[in-house]
Amino acid sequence: MKIIITENMGEFNKVAADIVSRQIKNKPDSVLGLATGSTPLGLYAMLIDMYKKGELDFSRVKTFNLDEYRGLPKDHPQSYYHFMYENLFNKINIKDENVNLLNGNRDESYRECADYEEKIKAAGGIDLQVLGIGHNGHIGFNEPGTPFDSVTDLIDLSERTIEANSRFFDSPDQVPRQALSMGIKTIMQSRNIVLLISGNSKARIAAKALNGPITQNVPASVLQLHPFVTVVLDKEAAVYL
Ligand code: F6R
Repeated sequence: MKIIITENMGEFNKVAADIVSRQIKNKPDSVLGLATGSTPLGLYAMLIDMYKKGELDFSRVKTFNLDEYRGLPKDHPQSYYHFMYENLFNKINIKDENVNLLNGNRDESYRECADYEEKIKAAGGIDLQVLGIGHNGHIGFNEPGTPFDSVTDLIDLSERTIEANSRFFDSPDQVPRQALSMGIKTIMQSRNIVLLISGNSKARIAAKALNGPITQNVPASVLQLHPFVTVVLDKEAAVYL
C-alpha cells in the first residue's frame, strides 16, 4: 500500500487528479471505476479543468460506477446517475455509451447485478478504481460484515449509512433503504485502486482500515491485501496513522 498524506484539500485533489490523469494518458481507452460522495468532488473538478485546458481526452474512456440507490428515478437529484452527470460526465467528452451505472429501477435487481459483472468483464476489467470510505469502513455500499468474496448485489444500507446520507435528503425517511453495489471481490479485481480519505471525521476509520486487522467488520481493511493500492489522505484524516 502506498500512502500519501497531503497538507490541504488543494494538494489532496491534485495528487488524486494526477493519478487518474496519468492512467488516462498512459492508456486512452482506460476503464475507470468511479465513486460518488463528497470526497471525490474536488478530483472531478480538476479532471474537468484538465479536459477544458485540452490536457485530457475522455473520448475512449469507459466508466463503471460503484453503486446506485434502489428505487430513485434516474433524474432524482440524489440519484448517483444524476450526481455523476452533474459533477463530471456532462462537462467532459465522455461518450454516453461508455458510461455504466447500475440501474436501481430494474425490477429484477439480481439480473441487473449479474449483467453489470458481465459488462465489467467484457470491458476487460477495471484499470483504476476510485474509492471513498464510509465512517463504518464501507467501500461502495459494502457494509460491515459483507463477505470479502461478494460480487455486485442488492444491499441493505446500515443505519449509520442512512444517517450519514440523510444530509442530502429533506429527512432521513426519504433516504432509500437499499442500494445496488459492486461487491468487494469485484472491487478487489481492479488492477489499481486509489482510496481517497479526507476530514477528521474519517481519521479513526482510516487508521483501522489501513493499520488494523484485516476483517469483514471493516470492509476497507481488505485493501491491505491488494497489490496496487494508493491511499491519499489529507492531514486531518491521517492523525491516527
Ligand atoms: C459512493 C460510495 C461510498 C462513499 C462513502 C464516502 O459511491 O461508494 O462508499 O465513497 O460513503 O462518502 P463521502 O465521500 O461522501 O464521505
